[in-house]
Formats: sequence, structure tokens, C-alpha cells
Amino acid sequence: MSFTIAIDGPAAAGKGTISKAVAAHFNFAHLDTGLLYRAVGRQVLLGTPALEAARALSADDLDGDKLRTPEIAQAASKVAALPEVRAALTDFQRAFARRAGGAVLDGRDIGTVICPDAEAKLFVTASAEIRAQRRFKELFEKGHDTTLETVLADVRERDARDMNRADAPLKPAEDAVLIDTSALDIDTAVARAIEAINLRRAAFAM
Ligand code: C5P
Repeated sequence: MSFTIAIDGPAAAGKGTISKAVAAHFNFAHLDTGLLYRAVGRQVLLGTPALEAARALSADDLDGDKLRTPEIAQAASKVAALPEVRAALTDFQRAFARRAGGAVLDGRDIGTVICPDAEAKLFVTASAEIRAQRRFKELFEKGHDTTLETVLADVRERDARDMNRADAPLKPAEDAVLIDTSALDIDTAVARAIEAINLRRAAFAM
């Protein structure tokens, strides 16, 4: 039996942490769909045309550590605005979502475009300032030389591009449960997510 959990939201809202915790809790597979766009963005920075990179993408290209840099994040959000790139990545994501045993997918358009029939949908958000602080701390700890102002400007630029693109813009699905993590610690945010998903699981079990 398949059960799809779609978790969308802007950069650094806590989606990744919540998605991993939720997948572990329910023993579901997890796909961070941002890695697909990041892997394409990386190839573009290396000189490959975006569509060619999207079509040639393989699981080996999804090494999170290599892909989590600010430059690749910006390149990802640029290639993500190209409809043909999004189309080339759709089938893989849909197949993952319908795998037996359940799946969690996190991204920007999972509940709206990739899996509009997902059994559970969450939209995880937080203020741009809080998200920038979190991302800055992460980058600082990894040794990146940057400032909070630069990270905030990056977050705002990426938000604007992701929310205003014509194809699959970032927005909550009408039936998504909203979780604002601005004032929540990780454990509370994860508990809210699990509670919301359990309500949906109960509805489907009836
Ligand atoms: O989530 P992450 O920050 O890794 O995503 C990188 C970029 O990939 C986002 O800014 C967004 O432009 C794009 N993306 C997307 N649709 C998804 C996941 C990510 O457009 N489902």
C-alpha cells in the first residue's frame, strides 16, 4: 500500500529536518526533491545545458553534502524556473511517491503539482529573518565565510524567484496543514507534523 506525505515550504523553514524525522517515525522512504534541482544547478555551473543535465540525472548525483552550497542553491532556483527541466524530473518524483510502504517528499510543489492526490500535505514556513538566521548558523558551522545580511538577501531572492515563477510556484496546496516554525523548537515542530499526519492516516484507515 502506498501513502504519500507531501511537505512543501520555502528554504530553511525546517522542511528537511521535519521530513527526515517524519520518514523515520513512520518508517517511510524520504526524497529531498531540492537535491534534484541542486544537482542540475551544479551541472549547469560546470557548463552542461540545464535540460541535458536534468535528463541525464542519476541517483549518484544526489550527494547532499556536495550540493548544499549557496552558489548551487541559487543555480538550482534558476534551473527550477524552466518548465522543461521540471517536466524532466516529474516522473521520477511521482514513481518515488507511489512506492510501496509509504514515501515522504519535500520540496516546493509536491502537494500542488507533483502529488496533488497525496494523502497528507504539510506546508512548513517561518519568517525570512528566522530562516536566514538558521541558514547562517548552518553555513558558519560548516566554515563558509558569509554574513547574516548576505544570507538574508539570498533567502529573499530565492523566495521571490520560487514564488513568482509561472510554472509550479511555491505556494501551499489548498488542503495543506500549515506549520509556522518561527517560534517552535525542532521537537515541537516534528510533533505537530506527526499529529497532522496521524489524523490523515486515521481518515484513510476508515
Ligand atoms: O529545498 P532546496 O533549498 O534544496 O531547493 C533548492 C531550489 O530548488 C529551490 O530554491 C527551488 O527553486 C528548487 N526546488 C523546486 N521544487 C522542488 C524542490 C526544490 O523548485 N520541489
